[in-house]
Amino acid sequence: MEQHRSHNPNPSHQNPSAYKREREDNGRNHCENKHSRPNRPQNQSGPSRGQNPHSSLSLSTRRELYERDFPVYKQPVEVGCFSLDSERRFFNDGRQMRYYVEPDRSPNFDLRDGYKDRFIKRDDSVKEKLDHMLRWILANRSKLSARGTTASSCDLDIDFVTWRGHLTKLLTAPYETREGWQLAVTRFRGTLYISEVETEAARRDQENRTERHEEMMYWGYKFEQYTCADTDHGRPDPGGVLNTNEAFCTVVQTRLADHRLLFSGEVDCRDKDPNAPAAPACYIELKTSAEICTPKQRSNFHRFKLLKWWAQSFLPGVPRVVAGFRDEEGVVVAVETFPISKISHLIKNEHNCWKPTVCMNFCSDFLSFVKHIATEDNPSVVYLLSWEPRRDVTFSVHRDSPYCFLPHWFVEEMTSSQPSHQS
Ligand code: A3P
Ligand code: MG
Repeated sequence: MEQHRSHNPNPSHQNPSAYKREREDNGRNHCENKHSRPNRPQNQSGPSRGQNPHSSLSLSTRRELYERDFPVYKQPVEVGCFSLDSERRFFNDGRQMRYYVEPDRSPNFDLRDGYKDRFIKRDDSVKEKLDHMLRWILANRSKLSARGTTASSCDLDIDFVTWRGHLTKLLTAPYETREGWQLAVTRFRGTLYISEVETEAARRDQENRTERHEEMMYWGYKFEQYTCADTDHGRPDPGGVLNTNEAFCTVVQTRLADHRLLFSGEVDCRDKDPNAPAAPACYIELKTSAEICTPKQRSNFHRFKLLKWWAQSFLPGVPRVVAGFRDEEGVVVAVETFPISKISHLIKNEHNCWKPTVCMNFCSDFLSFVKHIATEDNPSVVYLLSWEPRRDVTFSVHRDSPYCFLPHWFVEEMTSSQPSHQS
């Protein structure tokens, strides 16, 4: 894939001007701050600023700092997959894979159908953190272990483990004006694990969703049900129960500049042709969006929605998005395919629009920043990176705190035993 290749012979150096010290004259090395006394956060979204001083080191998200050549982004390789069933149980296989069945160009799907009586919604108050990925890692350790028989042979040959969705938030941060984020980072046996922490604002938004908003969140899943079959020869079953616990996730390995990444993301479906290219090239991302009736709406679609769609699919190497455009009543009036490689051309005429290179360079510099600050290898230490739009990324350090997210079963298994070799 051409766009995954670097055009820069030496792109991995971060732009030093993106790093900032907030308090140059505080007389302390920034590394001292990371050993600040642990504070137990009073709630999920974190301690107050007064209790736990933030580090003097921060990272800017200003776009102009990241407008340089596209960094090396290696073609993502699928190293495995897993499935979550209707009760959110983990399976180390692809049993929840679905197959795309192309609809008419104007199919009139009613996305409201079944919302009241055939919908089982995943409990999003249950925070799963990285647990499913960690289960996958334990079950597939032999595929990931480092260099043969050295002392570190039970460690992973990877710098970062995370969800694709967390990386999507990093890619889009230089253009995000509404929602901030918090990412918890733990270094364990040389690998940095990144897991999201729900912000106070996100928790409030979730609690205050209107009934209309709740229903509109269902529409995207309903579109999937209209366009996906359970087998390569099957038909979609829009009359069935829709259960959002079920998921098929790909696990991919790649490299961004000098960062070796392992991440997982939910995949909506695949091309049902058995001769389609190997995963992830056969995967298809499904999306819904309001129909576009005016030039202003088209411009907003390019500037905001296509950025999110591009970032989400570019990361794992999913080559196309199939979009259902719906009217105010939730009826799909048009279906269109967007090849990911064409999105950057589509937005070229938008004035002051987003740029893929800014997204990827910011992500790369963020990961360099994390490597630089998260130095203590300890499963009970969390470096909490916080960001709000129009601010810099800052961090604080927490020891034995509720932010800890690597479960005992993972730490013990990784510490005590050698990987079991699987075929
Ligand atoms: P749409 O994206 O078509 O609205 P995904 O597209 O990432 O596979 O997610 C499937 C659907 O889950 C979305 O479809 C939307 O309905 C719902 N969804 C996912 N993330 C969401 C979020 N942050 N807020 C609201 N709905 C979300
Ligand atoms: Mg989707």
